[in-house]
Amino acid sequence: MRPVQGRRILLGVTGGIASYKTAWLARLFAQGGAEVDVVLTRSAREFIGAVTFEALTGRPVHTELVAEGHALDHITLARGANLIVVAPATADFLSRAASGRADDLLSACLLAADAPVLLVPAMNDRMWAHKQTVANVEHLRSLGYHVLAPDAGPLASPQEGAGPGRMPEPTTIFAHAARLLEPRSALAGKHVVVTAGPTREAIDPVRYLSNHSSGRMGVAIAESAWRRGADVTLIAGPLAVPLPDGVHTVAVETTEQMAAAVRSALASADVLVMAAAPADFRPSQLSDSKIKKGARPEAIALENTSDILATTRDARRPGTIVVGFALETDDVLVHAAKKLEAKDLDFIVVNDAREIGAGFGSETNRVTILARGAQPDALPLLLKTEVADAILDRVEGVMRGR
Ligand code: CTP
Repeated sequence: MRPVQGRRILLGVTGGIASYKTAWLARLFAQGGAEVDVVLTRSAREFIGAVTFEALTGRPVHTELVAEGHALDHITLARGANLIVVAPATADFLSRAASGRADDLLSACLLAADAPVLLVPAMNDRMWAHKQTVANVEHLRSLGYHVLAPDAGPLASPQEGAGPGRMPEPTTIFAHAARLLEPRSALAGKHVVVTAGPTREAIDPVRYLSNHSSGRMGVAIAESAWRRGADVTLIAGPLAVPLPDGVHTVAVETTEQMAAAVRSALASADVLVMAAAPADFRPSQLSDSKIKKGARPEAIALENTSDILATTRDARRPGTIVVGFALETDDVLVHAAKKLEAKDLDFIVVNDAREIGAGFGSETNRVTILARGAQPDALPLLLKTEVADAILDRVEGVMRGR
């Protein structure tokens, strides 16, 4: 996966029970195409064996500062790394790193490195809350280390509390690592607003009208924008895929709620990507109580919901880049070009609903991107994560050209 592909990651493991999850993290990095050098501290080896990491990374594991009579491993390892991740980082390791110790291989690597360092604490919730640990973390952050906040929830030992202390899931650590590896992006520090998923329009308290949108495309765009350093607001209808890390999510149900959330987010948005499939119609009358089987209506009268892109146009700031989607079945490019004009968009991403392997629910998509005054840009069948990157590359292109 892009940013991780071909990069060298030094993965430090210290002595905590969460180190079993680090094996999965090593696998995610290796699968993403990274070269992963694992460094185990002495206490980590009480919890997990080097053989596990050697098998997962296909590379030797490093353990000692002085090995086979020479002590230069830390310099070579640290200088070659594009990123250092320490997971789990115990309270003891945080304290040692905060005081600049260099008496084992991993702490020496931290001092010898130029690369960004991501520390992933995991410990008992009381140890995490202790003033000494809080002071160590503050100091580490002031030195430029990136320190992830632990999750709350049950810890390994049933006797322990459920306050923050648990190591975040490997996919979350991976997402933060990818963000640190991402090359400098024109989207860094920008506010990107993405809509995703369907909306629901109630018929009665238990029934609704909706569509098959899963939200996968919008979530992929939100993920990619966050990885590029943007502040991301994801305005999401009910999604069939997990929420991404790092983004601020606003959950909505109806098209009118989505329109209101888009309007308020536009006040500070640099980019709006409308990847959602809002319901275009809603029942003209909402029944307050459940419609009984015996009282089947002959028909349900419908009225139009708001067209969000059109009705929020006045809320856009000058220069906000707006990307829409179009799902079409006939005269695909002609209809899409009309929407590009009518909705006043910078780009429209066109899906042919009849295309196999594209559209709702699928992990892949084949799209054509239209921009004003440019030839249609037809992309091959790609993963939705790759389509997301292709869209944001073009958005960055516009930003750089200004
Ligand atoms: N969209 C919107 N508000 C709606 C419906 C759609 O802002 N009520 C946005 C979608 O998020 C998408 C774009 O408009 O970015 C085009 O959506 P699409 O469903 O293809 O077009 P419609 O405007 O609904 O037109 P039609 O149904 O006639 O194809």
